[in-house]
This record gives sequence, C-alpha cells and structure tokens, in this order.
Amino acid sequence: FRRLGLRGMKQRLLVVANRLPVSANRRGEDQWSLEISAGGLVSALLGVKDVDAKWIGWAGVNVPDEVGQQALTNALAEKRCIPVFLDEEIVHQYYNGYCNNILWPLFHYLGLPQEDRLATTRNFESQFDAYKRANQMFADVVYQHYQEGDVIWCHDYHLMFLPRCLKEHDINMKVGWFLHTPFPSSEIYRTLPSRSELLRSVLCADLVGFHTYDYARHFVSACTRILGLEGTPEGVEDQGKLTRVAAFPIGIDSDRFKRALDIDAAKRHVNELKQRFAGRKVMLGVDRLDMIKGIPQKILAFEKFLEENPEWIDKVVLLQIAVPTRTDVPEYQKLTSQVHEIVGRINGRFGTLSAVPIHHLDRSLDFHALCALYAVTDVALVTSLRDGMNLVSYEYVACQGSKKGVLILSEHNRLVLVPFL
Ligand code: F6P
Repeated sequence: FRRLGLRGMKQRLLVVANRLPVSANRRGEDQWSLEISAGGLVSALLGVKDVDAKWIGWAGVNVPDEVGQQALTNALAEKRCIPVFLDEEIVHQYYNGYCNNILWPLFHYLGLPQEDRLATTRNFESQFDAYKRANQMFADVVYQHYQEGDVIWCHDYHLMFLPRCLKEHDINMKVGWFLHTPFPSSEIYRTLPSRSELLRSVLCADLVGFHTYDYARHFVSACTRILGLEGTPEGVEDQGKLTRVAAFPIGIDSDRFKRALDIDAAKRHVNELKQRFAGRKVMLGVDRLDMIKGIPQKILAFEKFLEENPEWIDKVVLLQIAVPTRTDVPEYQKLTSQVHEIVGRINGRFGTLSAVPIHHLDRSLDFHALCALYAVTDVALVTSLRDGMNLVSYEYVACQGSKKGVLILSEHNRLVLVPFL
C-alpha cells in the first residue's frame, strides 16, 4: 500500500485473479455449492486481513444461462467475490491454451510447445487473441465495481494484459500487478512471440511485484533488452514514467494453520493417523499434479531409497496428495497416467501383504485433515523443478509445532525464513 503511494488502509482493495478463492459446483438450476480453490495464490491471499477487499475472478465453471449466472453471483456476493463468466471456448483458448500451455511452461523454463516455436502459427495467434479478450472481460467487470480511490491488485501470468486495459479506461486508477510464478531470464522470455506487447502492458501498472529479487531483476533486464528501456534501482523508466518494480516474498497466515489443529476434527485426524501408521516413518508430499512439482522424480527417488535400503521396506511410507489441476490440458493428462503407472509399479515391487510403500491420492483433503497430516508426518518432501514460492513448506513448518520433522526442499524452491522458524 505504501509503495502504491497510499497513506492508510482506508482504500478499498479490488483483487483480480484468474480464479476466485472459491470454486463453484452446480447443484440445481439456481443452486450452487462453493469450495475453497486449490493453489498458492489462494493460500497466500487468505492471509490478507484488515482490508476492505473484494475479489474478482472466474469461478472455474461454465454458466451459459442467465438464471444460473444470477444465482451464482448472489451466492458469491456473500463471500465478497464477484464472478467473471468465461465461456468454454474462451477457457479453452485463454486458460488451457495461452496461459497453461504457453506462459506456464515458458516461465518455468520448460520452453514453448514445439508447435508454437514458430511465432506465426495460427494456433498461437488465436490463443493470444483469446488471452487479450479474456483480460478485457476481467477489466469490464472491474469497471462495473470500481469506485474512485480503489486500489486494483492484479495477479499472475493470466492477467498480464489487464494493467493496460485498466489504465486505458482511467489513467488515475491505482494498479498493482504481482506474479506468483518465476519470471524467467530474459534469454528465455525473449523466445515468446508476444514478448513486447505483454511487457508494455505490465509496465502500465504503478507497481510490479515478484516473489524474489531474482525474478524482479529478470523482469527489468527483459524490459531493457527487449524494449530498450532504462532500468533504475526503483524499476523501469519509459519517457519519464516510472513503473516501480520490487520483490515482495509471499507467505501464509501461519496462525490459521496452528489454530486449525486445536479443532476436534483435526485432533481426531491426528489420532487416527498416528494409529494407522504406528511403527512406520511417514513422508509427505502435497502438490497440485503439475509437471513443475517434480512428482514423478520424487516417487522415483523414493523407489531408489527402498532399492538401496531394503531394511526400510515396510518401515516407511510415502503419502502423496496430488490435487488434480488443469485436467483438460493434454500434458497434464499424460502426467497423471505417468504418475499412476510409476506408483503402481513401485507398490507392486515393494508392497507386502500388510502394507504398500506409497499412498497416492488424486484429490485435495479438507483443511483439518491436511493440517493433521502436516502435524504428524516425519518428513515433508517438496521437490519442485521450478516454483514461484512453494507454500507447502511454510504450511508444514507451521503445523509441526514441537515435533521437529524434516523438511526436504529441492534446490529450485524458494523459501524465505520466517520468524517462527
Ligand atoms: O502458482 C501459480 C498459480 O497460478 C497460482 O497462483 C495458483 O494458485 C495456481 O497456479 C493454481 O492454478 P490453477 O488456477 O490453474 O489451478
């Protein structure tokens, strides 16, 4: 707030992210159930307190009819959420296509998909066009709810075009944009056909934030090398206009996790887990089922451990919670089959009549069950190949209390030491 030039916390905050913190499921023509969305962005922003905030985003569901849209809008209003309705075609081109098949792998150093390396493929162009249209749809909803003085906080690679749409509408809007993934080296970023347009759009914001100093530095050097703009210690300057660029390492509301363990439901889970795994060491993985999380690599490392240390067979178990994500994208479908195949093979190889070495769940757990798992397990394995700022490590530490389990992080994870450590 201070860096956006705001004095107090009196301003209203409009958070704009692709996904709302709750996802909707239809139960009838005008009946909806809401559940907390998975992912780091939601986990981090649930910790934003003492601010008059509303959240604008997609509820993760196609609602073609007006009755359904109105009912969902009403249900979300109670949660201070405002939906952006995206139809199937735009979700396919913008979310599955441009966001998750192009920007996501590129920003995590996995490169562009083979067919999109040629900038002019029609596929690429139509997806980029849908991306811009989708960003404009988010902007239209912001305009409907904006009041003078509001701060608009845009999130993530889905909405790089949004700062430009907002400033074109009203140059006085206070706009921040924050990226929840790595921003890659300019050498990688410059392979993106739409590189200049996206950078120029992000630079329309007043303040641009990243998890780490490295990501901020990569962004500034992309602006220097690709747009020929001047990088200053404060940010990027273009014809006298300064866009501030800085690192704001994200965290979690650790008290929310600690408090959850005082609830009876969590205590029951803790006792059940202790009984079920008595006499065995328990290793835990909690990830969205995403290629950047290194799930196959983690499981294969576990296999190697059992292979080299057979005395541990039946004495250690790996619990892998793999929350399904982006299930319409073929790469994610392939990853799911690959993980299932590896788990099946290892369980067949090292399982006994009394136990299997890997428990793999393709779903999320309710919050109290998750906190209980964090509390009782002996080891947490966070093995991302690249990650913006993995929050599972924070969640694990917050729930461990005096247990002193071991947190194993791959070297490509970012962790900022926090006071409770
Ligand atoms: O880590 C990047 C990110 O966009 C997060 O901000 C979000 O929590 C996560 O990916 C979830 O992705 P999706 O909404 O595509 O399931």
